[in-house]
Amino acid sequence: MNQKRLVCLCKHVSALEIKKKLHAGALTTSEIQKFTAAGTGCGRCVREIDAIVEKYMRETRKDPQFRIIFK
Ligand code: FES
Repeated sequence: MNQKRLVCLCKHVSALEIKKKLHAGALTTSEIQKFTAAGTGCGRCVREIDAIVEKYMRETRKDPQFRIIFK
């Protein structure tokens, strides 16, 4: 996947930006929406964000019960 490809056209958010937020501690699609605004326009990209989040969690084996507090 081209990391610079825009996942969310409404909010101009790329796959790379989503992965950076996941790496920084975001754990869910809701958190990605909160921190990048991706998926908060027409909503067409939410399923793709879900897929990116799920793939990242599978690959990194992050425990969704483990929470990091963003400030
Ligand atoms: S394409 Fe992401 S909200 Fe519209």
